[in-house]
Amino acid sequence: MNILLLGSGGREHALSWKMAQSDLLSKLFIGPGNAGTAEVGTNVQLNPNDFDEVKNFVIENSVEMVVVGPEEPLVRGIKDYFLNNPFIAHIPVIGPGKTGATLEGSKEFAKKFMFRHNIPTAGYLSVTNKNIDEGFAFLEKLNAPYVLKADGLAAGKGVLILDDINEAKEELKAMLKGKFGDAGNTVVIEEFLSGIELSVFVLTDGHGYLILPEAKDYKRIGENDEGLNTGGMGAVSPVPFADEEFMAKVKDCIVRPTIEGLREDDISYKGFVFIGLMSVKGEPYVIEYNVRMGDPESEVVIPRIKTDLVDLFKAVAAGNLKEKSLEIDDRTVTTVMMVSGGYPGSYEKGKKIGGLDKTSDCIVFHAGTKYDGDDVVTNGGRVIAVSAFGDDKEKALALSYKNAEVITFDKKYYRKDIGFDL
Ligand code: AMP
Ligand code: GLY
Repeated sequence: MNILLLGSGGREHALSWKMAQSDLLSKLFIGPGNAGTAEVGTNVQLNPNDFDEVKNFVIENSVEMVVVGPEEPLVRGIKDYFLNNPFIAHIPVIGPGKTGATLEGSKEFAKKFMFRHNIPTAGYLSVTNKNIDEGFAFLEKLNAPYVLKADGLAAGKGVLILDDINEAKEELKAMLKGKFGDAGNTVVIEEFLSGIELSVFVLTDGHGYLILPEAKDYKRIGENDEGLNTGGMGAVSPVPFADEEFMAKVKDCIVRPTIEGLREDDISYKGFVFIGLMSVKGEPYVIEYNVRMGDPESEVVIPRIKTDLVDLFKAVAAGNLKEKSLEIDDRTVTTVMMVSGGYPGSYEKGKKIGGLDKTSDCIVFHAGTKYDGDDVVTNGGRVIAVSAFGDDKEKALALSYKNAEVITFDKKYYRKDIGFDL
């Protein structure tokens, strides 16, 4: 089977690395990919958000399945685009349609969905310019800290957590005035949940579902979770506090009602659901839904899956995922994200990456990298995720860190405390 994977990050390198191991695969194209995906498939110059371009490529290259890495093409409706075009309607797209993707594309939509289906989540109020006074009154009723979320996609920057109520009111006004563009035309004010976060991943065909290994991601740029939010600085799987009892609650109170809720609402959903959870005194609450795999969580979750991923995707497309099961590697996988100096603020690109041939006992997943002639150079903020297996977290981390030292580029930075709190 010929497959096109859309995207260019560490998640896409992890997905393509895994798919490339399948006997069911003939050709794997990655659009646009990075220097790492070029090692396991063929990179093609495609913009995942230019659906006409994707369609032409698919037809010209006899692509038989499209796997969508990032959320943006999904939220923009790539699945519906395929279904509505007779030449490509038969080609399965792994990822939800536009309505399903709204679980990530609109915080308000996700909150309404959770309340409708009794899925545990923080209390909230949706505010627009029309009911801003209600918003102020809602804030008055809450205790600090105050959580404000731009309803739409805001490149991971649309969530503010503020200690001071006056600041919260000012920020609410600023968001409604366009601080995050149209994404903030509606603002969701939420109760603050205090606990430990983790990420749970589900693959579903809309009926059956498989719960993939869970992971913990480290979002802040600085050690001890200080400083600005990033896309993720490292991850660990499994997560020790997510024991059998906790995961049973996740399945019964969150995963099953989510899949059943989608069906009740007549939302066809074939793809990944990424559930961001908070464990509040051992009880899981949903912080957010994403409609794709996580990054850097993919770099620890995917290596732990022993089952053929292409076979699972085929089952998702055919609607017989219920017949499939998952085989998981019991070992721990950790990943340490090496980033460009300055990230998540401004940073330089084009730095030559050295030491890639000197790594050992690890999987080097590329994120923002590309070829410049024969050299591999940096091409983004998050550059390389160094993943490693270990019989325990300490052994895995030792290998991730040993190899993060070996890989070099100007102004490289990584957190030295991934997994230390677990
Ligand atoms: P989100 O984009 O909704 O995942 O929010 C980004 C981050 O803000 C989350 O990963 C949490 O760390 C934090 N956060 C979001 N909502 C809440 C909440 N209701 N209570 C506490 N922390 C939250
Ligand atoms: N690591 C968080 C995300 O992928 O959104």
